Amino acid sequence: MWSKRISFHSLPLFLFYLILVGPVCVKADEQNQKKFYVVFLGDHPVNHEDSAAKTHMNVLSSVTGSYSDAEKAMVYSYTKSFNAFAAKLSSDEAEKLSRMDQVLSVTPNRYHKLHTTKSWNFIGLPLTARRNLKSESDIVVGLFDTGITPESQSFKGEGFGPPPAKWKGTCGHFANFSGCNNKIIGARYFKLDGNPDPDDILSPVDVDGHGTHTSSTLAGNVVPDANLYGLAKGTARGAVPSARVSMYKVCWASFGCSDMDILAAYDAAIHDGVDVISISIGGGGANYVSDCIAIGAFHAMKNGIITVASAGNDGPSMGSIVNHAPWLVTVAASGIDRQFISKVHLGNGKNISGIGVSTFDPKKTLYPLVSGIDVARDSESKENARSCLQGSLDPKKIKGKIVLCKFESWGSDSVVKRLGGVGTILENDQFLDAAQIFMAPGTMVNSTIGQTVDAYIHSTRSPSAVIYKSEEAQKPAPYVASFSSRGPNPGSKYLLKPDIAAPGIDILASYTLLKSLTGLDGDTQYSEFTLMSGTSMSCPHVAGVAAYVKSFHPNWSQAAIRSAIMTTAKPMSQRVNADAEFAYGVGQVNPRKAVNPGLIYDVDEMSYIQFLCHEGYSGSSLAPLVGSKSINCSSLIPGLGYDALNYPTMQLSLKSNKQPTIAVFRRTVTNVGPANSIYNATIRAPKGVEITVKPMSLSFSHASQKRSFQVVVKANPMASRQMVSGSLGWKSSRYTVRSPIVVYSP
Ligand SMILES: *[C@@H]1O[C@H](CO)[C@@H](O)[C@H](O)[C@H]1NC(C)=O
Ligand SMILES: *[C@@H]1O[C@H](CO)[C@@H](O)[C@H](O)[C@H]1NC(C)=O
Ligand SMILES: *[C@@H]1O[C@H](CO)[C@@H](O)[C@H](O)[C@H]1NC(C)=O
Ligand SMILES: *[C@@H]1O[C@H](CO)[C@@H](O)[C@H](O)[C@H]1NC(C)=O
Ligand SMILES: *[C@@H]1O[C@H](CO)[C@@H](O)[C@H](O)[C@H]1NC(C)=O
Ligand SMILES: *[C@@H]1O[C@H](CO)[C@@H](O)[C@H](O)[C@H]1NC(C)=O
Repeated sequence: MWSKRISFHSLPLFLFYLILVGPVCVKADEQNQKKFYVVFLGDHPVNHEDSAAKTHMNVLSSVTGSYSDAEKAMVYSYTKSFNAFAAKLSSDEAEKLSRMDQVLSVTPNRYHKLHTTKSWNFIGLPLTARRNLKSESDIVVGLFDTGITPESQSFKGEGFGPPPAKWKGTCGHFANFSGCNNKIIGARYFKLDGNPDPDDILSPVDVDGHGTHTSSTLAGNVVPDANLYGLAKGTARGAVPSARVSMYKVCWASFGCSDMDILAAYDAAIHDGVDVISISIGGGGANYVSDCIAIGAFHAMKNGIITVASAGNDGPSMGSIVNHAPWLVTVAASGIDRQFISKVHLGNGKNISGIGVSTFDPKKTLYPLVSGIDVARDSESKENARSCLQGSLDPKKIKGKIVLCKFESWGSDSVVKRLGGVGTILENDQFLDAAQIFMAPGTMVNSTIGQTVDAYIHSTRSPSAVIYKSEEAQKPAPYVASFSSRGPNPGSKYLLKPDIAAPGIDILASYTLLKSLTGLDGDTQYSEFTLMSGTSMSCPHVAGVAAYVKSFHPNWSQAAIRSAIMTTAKPMSQRVNADAEFAYGVGQVNPRKAVNPGLIYDVDEMSYIQFLCHEGYSGSSLAPLVGSKSINCSSLIPGLGYDALNYPTMQLSLKSNKQPTIAVFRRTVTNVGPANSIYNATIRAPKGVEITVKPMSLSFSHASQKRSFQVVVKANPMASRQMVSGSLGWKSSRYTVRSPIVVYSP
């Protein structure tokens, strides 16, 4: 079980909820073996479900030879929100399909991986914040995740009226799923490949805990006295506690989340009438027209739905960011001002402190202490024993003892406990940002402290120690999590990603009682709430803010809501976060300010297409997005690229290491503040960069009025991979509308 989890999530399931990047898991294709493919057709028959499904069958049978073979091959017809189907095909059949006129694209199905509540107070959305309750209760948030726990207090239906009139979603009775109420108004699962998952249940029920956690962070009810074994005590709640939740289960315990299922969830969610989609799942590579998360989000955008996605947990490596399409909101993870520590008392009277959550009160004042390497099973297992790996330790020598282990892979505390040990001190310099939950008394210390403990162990004949139950401690914040994926954007030189940062470290939110806290064999800890860390947790924070903004501005476009959230963010410190905008985007989300941004940068569908043309996508390759092959990129205005997209940030990638690079960003803002307003430009330019804005002042005399301006950036050459940043702020007497300007050398 444990090793399977490791290979599935690649980092600790219970700590990071990792999203995996890149072209994942296309199973090695053996000759002639049939595989799943997603096939996009033109957009026309949407809303004529029967005829679209018939067309799909006709198209498919023309390559399978017979109608009955096509019936066997067909997996799913996407007919509600876009025109596509999924089928099991040989590579020959896929090839034939891709040559047909009415077929826009044929892509192999791939599998993706997954990537509370003090955090709302920390970012300035207290329980007492102003709400538009009537409108909030008409908001429906859709999550693509591992399912949901309907019994959870976060999703009780009492006090809610019937679902909003616009709602077309459904919710059935499923195995171990008691059905919906007026809070959870939609719950479905998608498992189109037909392979039962031995560790999961064919039902929207959440056996993993991830989906329950993200849903309650986004829109959970107000639940007083939430805690994890007494830790992180407080009132748990989502950003929009009055909003409704619709769960689309697309992630499965041992299979991950597949393209076909994610597309089916989009097809349903768009049709159902969700307002916001939150996706804490890994993206599918740098290409926006083959990544199903990006493709689905484009169709959502066309329907006025904003999609928010996690940036990934592969930081701090540069360029590790995923889900970076220009119509997605890409969220990095930051820390709040709380951490969980465990005090450790050593037999020599010294006290040390480690990071992590240990829910156990010690029964004795001291236990014998050993180092893993000294209690190896035999001489051959010595190196593995240093890291307390499975099979390396001698049970007789660790029974009743605390063991010091060098971190190599997750689960040493489980190994030590199963062999009769009573606690683990893990030494590690990498993962000290977030609290790991231990299944037995345990804590994580850095290498300096680890050496102190090791020196003590070898300084006396009977070393001893005790690990106390964890407690909360203060920590300076905000800061970007080391695991949060970093820019620059591998998909585009002209687009800054991530967009924004939100809390994603040690977030308390609802959990499932179907799984122990760690999911490890032998763990007996169960809790209705738990702590999780990852960009998976920061994503629903921003999705929640999007829903909050939408409850005040129901008819704002996806880009308007994103702009409001981004231009009002609280700048973060470049001193604390060396990767600056590549780590935090515009900074930390600021929910209450986002409701009143003053000005917005709006973007329409055609501008996104024009942007992709500038990026070098051919018109025909954009077919899965626009629904036809009719885009002619060369006929679209041949701008500079920097002005193709009215984005609320600006990024310049230097063209030369000898001469200065000059770029002109053209932008247009729309007045959503008071009718009569004047905004003046405030420019902050880093060393070696000149920034000028024309005009320097924008005056508005009515609502929804638009004004255009140009930002000219002239940047001197700099060393490769270096990045500097400044900003443009439009300031009126009431608002500051801020856009970072990033210059980097590729
Ligand atoms: C549903 O839960 C019960 C225990 O509450 C369990 O015995 C049963 O096997 C579960 N059903 C399925 C389909 O897993
Ligand atoms: C270490 O902690 C123990 C128990 O909390 C306390 O009694 C003792 O004074 C501490 N020792 C030092 C050196 O701080
Ligand atoms: C470990 O933590 C201690 C105390 O916080 C600190 O002084 C030391 O520099 C840290 N060592 C490393 C390698 O980070
Ligand atoms: C939203 O709707 C109102 C009234 O229906 C209209 O005045 C306003 O222009 C609309 N705003 C946007 C951004 O479409
Ligand atoms: C695309 O547009 C260009 C410029 O307007 C034109 O010359 C070309 O013929 C068009 N191509 C097609 C296939 O329509
Ligand atoms: C904008 O600039 C004008 C002219 O310099 C000045 O009169 C006005 O006070 C400024 N407004 C703000 C909000 O700074």
